[in-house]
Amino acid sequence: MDNFVINGGHELFGEVSISGAKNAAVAIIPAAILADDVVRIENIPQISDVQLIIEILDRMGADIKLVNKNTLDIDTSNINYQSVPYELTSHFRASYYLIGAMLGRFNQAEVAMPGGCNFGVRPIDQHIKGFEMLGADVDIVDGMVCAKADKLMGTSIYMDVVSVGATINIMLAAVKARGLTIIENAAKEPHIVDLANFLNSMGADVRGAGTDVIKIRGVEKMHGCTYSIIPDQIEAGTYMVATAACGGDVLIKNVIPKHLESISAKLEEAGAEVIEYDDAVRVTRFKALNKCNVKTMPHPGFPTDMQPQMAVLLSIANGTSILSESVWDNRFQYVGQLLRMGADIQVDGKVAVIVGVPKLAGVSVKATDLRAGAAMIIAGLVAEGTTTVEDIVYVDRGYEDIVEKLSALGADIKRVSVNDDNAVQTAG
Ligand code: EPU
Repeated sequence: MDNFVINGGHELFGEVSISGAKNAAVAIIPAAILADDVVRIENIPQISDVQLIIEILDRMGADIKLVNKNTLDIDTSNINYQSVPYELTSHFRASYYLIGAMLGRFNQAEVAMPGGCNFGVRPIDQHIKGFEMLGADVDIVDGMVCAKADKLMGTSIYMDVVSVGATINIMLAAVKARGLTIIENAAKEPHIVDLANFLNSMGADVRGAGTDVIKIRGVEKMHGCTYSIIPDQIEAGTYMVATAACGGDVLIKNVIPKHLESISAKLEEAGAEVIEYDDAVRVTRFKALNKCNVKTMPHPGFPTDMQPQMAVLLSIANGTSILSESVWDNRFQYVGQLLRMGADIQVDGKVAVIVGVPKLAGVSVKATDLRAGAAMIIAGLVAEGTTTVEDIVYVDRGYEDIVEKLSALGADIKRVSVNDDNAVQTAG
């Protein structure tokens, strides 16, 4: 078990390079099942969610070769159809992409209901609706999602809610269905476009990704390809907010600035300066932070996955900010931890009222989920004194080399391992 120990109060300066996108990688890697051929995937982030999906493909018999730290060759030509048990799906949400990918490849799938961060009820009714409309019978038996089709047939599917996961899962199942599938009210997140580009590189015919209507004309066979995953919008946003919260001047490299516009706009409103380059953004902040109101929304709105990090920044801004969560029912669980650091936040349902305080104080806090963990790190960086962040397995799910990247910017952060007898040792 590891903790992060942070001595706060340092401004951040320098350059940081952003890794490949977690939420694209966890869709693209299982999509490799659809081509019974070798695919080379580059810019894969080294994070635990990715390791889990690779482990599942490995157990299915895929031949996976590490080309370098962030590149894999995946050959799924000899994989076997098999059910995926809960012990493999319980730790991450995206395990449900195996349902769409296996339906596409084998016309059947049996995958345990997924785990993942807990933001309240996380239904998968829209995924199931999509699979059924494509012609699959879907049952949930003893916690397993069992889907089977004689053949998948293209059709028109209207999504009742805008869902990233359901849009991706339906795309995975539909690329080899017969005829045309139209997904209406589709999610538009950057990783949806990235998955579509990957599928098209393997010979699929997917158009319209990034708009709310995606058209997929089924193809019989898909082939190998070489593909590089896009940079992680949320990792980039996390370093942007960290810089604005701590003060300083950081060049955030290997990003797509267009994906960061909603975050840049709010940081500028709060008193930071954001300069866009072709594939980098520079964030500087030397004056006091101002209040601003933020509402999370599906892309291109302000991402829910940046909401906890933004709450930390607003906690030390002048004035009172309103932070509204419109995607998840219960994404303010981390607020109790910030209160312990001296923040002044009141939560009423899906709205948090944040009254800025002059400073936060270092204490021991828990990462209640992945992005909450990132928020606790930022809180530790701005706080006076020492902050210990516990339960950092969540952070390891989504941030590659976070200690190394922050240390290079001048932060005082260490990963320490905690023995059973509670002695603390440095783990590098
Ligand atoms: N929803 C339904 N029915 C469904 C699916 C979703 O009602 O069948 C609802 C959800 O309850 C939620 C809303 O629709 O209120 C949006 O959920 P969505 O399906 O878009 O979320 P997801 O696919 O489960 C992905 C990311 C999350 C991110 C959300 C929203 C992955 C692996 N996860 O989750 O990322 O918060 O989209 O952008 O892509 C994270 O990276 O920390 C993370 C949690």
